[in-house]
Amino acid sequence: MINEYIGVLDSGVGGLSILSELYKIMPDKNYIYVGDTKNIPYGTKTPSEIYSYTKDILNYFLKNNVKNVVIACNTTSAVAYDKLKIEFENKLKIFPLIQSVASNAIEGLKNDDTIALLATRATVNSKKYEQEIHKINPKIKVISIDCTGFVEIVENRLYKEDKSIELIKSKLDIVKNNNAKRIILGCTHYPYLVDIFRKILDIEYFNPAISLAKKIKNEINFKGSGEIKFYSTINPEEFKKSAKMFFDIKDDVQLINF
Ligand code: DGL
Repeated sequence: MINEYIGVLDSGVGGLSILSELYKIMPDKNYIYVGDTKNIPYGTKTPSEIYSYTKDILNYFLKNNVKNVVIACNTTSAVAYDKLKIEFENKLKIFPLIQSVASNAIEGLKNDDTIALLATRATVNSKKYEQEIHKINPKIKVISIDCTGFVEIVENRLYKEDKSIELIKSKLDIVKNNNAKRIILGCTHYPYLVDIFRKILDIEYFNPAISLAKKIKNEINFKGSGEIKFYSTINPEEFKKSAKMFFDIKDDVQLINF
């Protein structure tokens, strides 16, 4: 019998924050993870570039016994999911991130409360979080903050650099000045930074990974063996090092090109 896999994709190691939650609650499934490190960061690319990169990954999944795909990337969910959904309809079931978790992000908030979104430039420009949140409650105020540069801190492990801390502080100052009640970690790379965030600003942090994993659990039924294959599109060794916080990858990360 051929093994079935869940395909999980991101521009780099960020999506591992989603994979780790999926694996915690569905350890009996098989996974193929692709980090498109050749094209990272997605957050400063155009929607059509992001669509083209992710379309290639989905075509690869299709050929490799994947039936369910998790877009473990806010940016792709924001700017390319709608097109991908049409393109791959009837071939793949695709779970987007933002659209799946927006209702959980505002749970417990009241009208006129402010929620801050930290995200990539492409996600902020798309206004996808605002749209999804306002479908549920148009009275919640959403402050969207372009955090260009955070992804590089994670991918290149620049956590301790003064420049990194200054950049993070400048973004969290905006949150503070707007009296936000909660922060959405609106890029899958940002859970890697949350301990640093907490030291600077003691506020509630919403990590979409947990809600997304819970939603998907009821919709995927095949039985696997817990196998995970990791791929990156450039520098697999670097990928493995940067991945450490969410996944201590034992096997080699394979280089893949589309
Ligand atoms: N981790 C991705 C996200 O959730 C993309 C980061 C990037 O490549 O800019 O948005």
